[in-house]
Amino acid sequence: MKEIIELIRSSSYTIVFTGAGMSTESGLPDFRSKERGLWTKFNPDELANVYALDNNFEEFTDFYQYRLREIDKYQPHEGHFVLGKWEQKGIIRGIVTQNVDGFHHDAGNRNVMELHGTFRNFFCNQCKREHIREEYLYGNSHCEYCDGPVRPGIVLFGEMLPEEVFNKAEIETSKADLFIVLGSSLTVTPANIFPMMAKEHGAKLVIVNREATPLDHYADYIIRDKSIKEWLIEVNEGLSSTILKERDE
Ligand code: APR
Repeated sequence: MKEIIELIRSSSYTIVFTGAGMSTESGLPDFRSKERGLWTKFNPDELANVYALDNNFEEFTDFYQYRLREIDKYQPHEGHFVLGKWEQKGIIRGIVTQNVDGFHHDAGNRNVMELHGTFRNFFCNQCKREHIREEYLYGNSHCEYCDGPVRPGIVLFGEMLPEEVFNKAEIETSKADLFIVLGSSLTVTPANIFPMMAKEHGAKLVIVNREATPLDHYADYIIRDKSIKEWLIEVNEGLSSTILKERDE
């Protein structure tokens, strides 16, 4: 742990990469954990793709309204707020995230690259007009202007990732001298290219994840014995005492 604290303290450009494991300690399920993963209850092939939007719209809408109601029940945990504080202090420079819950914004982070979009906006898939959350949750799921299908602003399987966000994540990752993965199985492309990209640009790679990932053999450090929230709190305590010690010297 001491080595990693020193690494974070001495790095000049740390980028954090988060997956659904970042939000499980808020209460949200991740996707592939055996006990609670969303894909153990729902079939993404039937619900989370463009085909479902076009041909299975009622079940598609039921599924995303369910996910939205789940997200509304929970909020960021202490680990999210540690990351918010770290960005404000310049300890990290930003977060590349696969998560769509918006918890990094709520916890104070500003340089957040949401590769898979966000549940914070909704639009008609036909005329592209914006729609509001309440309307999506409780109103008509068809567009009031053109009667097209209204959907959340998240990337579905089979859709391209938002180009601007992807390009910014590439730039930020290539500048990183330290890249920390928190809570991702790193099994979904193209999001899982970023840890490798960081490594190829000479960054140190830290993976904090309860289970093994296909990129573990590239990592300089792998943390499995602590949950993400515990790890963030512990590192934060170590950093504060290091910085305080520096001030005393
Ligand atoms: N501490 C540490 N690791 C955790 C914790 C925790 N508290 N909770 C979960 N994990 C780990 C799990 O063991 C798992 O390996 O986080 C990982 C989450 O992996 P996934 O469920 O696959 O989530 P993610 O990698 O974000 O999925 C990527 O897949 O379905 C798509 O669009 C969806 O963005 C998502 C993408």
